[in-house]
Amino acid sequence: MPLIIPATQGVLAVKISKITGYPLGYAQLERLPDGEKYVRVPVDVEGEDVIVVNSFAHRPDEMLLETIFLIETLKEYGVRSVTGVFPYFPYSRFERVIRGEAYPLRIVADLLRGTGIDRMIVVDFHVQGDLSSIFGFEVLNVTAMRKIARFVEKNFDMKDPLVVAPDERAVRWAKTVAEEIGSDYVYLRKMRIDAENVIVDSAPKAASGRDVLIVDDIISTGGTVVQAVKALKKVGCGRVYVACTHAILAGNALRKLLECGVEDMVATDTVLSPISHVSVADILSECIQQII
Ligand code: R5P
Repeated sequence: MPLIIPATQGVLAVKISKITGYPLGYAQLERLPDGEKYVRVPVDVEGEDVIVVNSFAHRPDEMLLETIFLIETLKEYGVRSVTGVFPYFPYSRFERVIRGEAYPLRIVADLLRGTGIDRMIVVDFHVQGDLSSIFGFEVLNVTAMRKIARFVEKNFDMKDPLVVAPDERAVRWAKTVAEEIGSDYVYLRKMRIDAENVIVDSAPKAASGRDVLIVDDIISTGGTVVQAVKALKKVGCGRVYVACTHAILAGNALRKLLECGVEDMVATDTVLSPISHVSVADILSECIQQII
């Protein structure tokens, strides 16, 4: 039976272990007084299929490095395979590269591939396309959007809602949610100025008088949703609800969202937040059981 090892932000490992019945292992992961990482695998894992669970929100660099240390150590120990379960994966939004600018996703992919990792499972990864080619090992990308949609249907009091993607990238998620709740969807045009500021064009008249559900993969600073809400309110939409997979909620994002007039919000537990009402543990467990 595969062994599940949670890393520092691998809280989902407990739920996954309960659902799959796979045992929970342990790795010693310490932050030393000088900030360096100490990693030790204290149990015999030779010949085992090991699942490492970690989420990279809030402390992405530290979590990435400890994960790399841990996988390398497991491989040296002689495990049969390592599957990384990384519900939130960082650096996925840096796609455009101009000369002189680092391309972190490629660098991170190279580092992870270098550990000898066999495969990883991610949730609603921001980049579209063949992730296995980008990373150079097998990548399975599962979606939480159908489960989010079911939560929305049950818990948000919306009448004939219009699903809104706050930018073109989010269309695929808005479409999935709209299909699931039997609604229609539109998208807004967004231009990013910098990490905290975006401009969102005017919303379509179709939103006027309708309750709206904004659907995105990530809410980081909240800038995108706040601007989308403003644009939708300008055309006289009804109540505004928000759903996303990864609620990073950096800084005062949650306050900004509440203050701009959002009625209610939901996210998953890929990142733990006050709005993480939907768990992806069952989705990840099903995927794990299909491949290992
Ligand atoms: C980017 O295109 C993503 O899909 C999100 O729209 C973005 O990460 C949201 O970031 P923020 O909350 O900082 O505007």
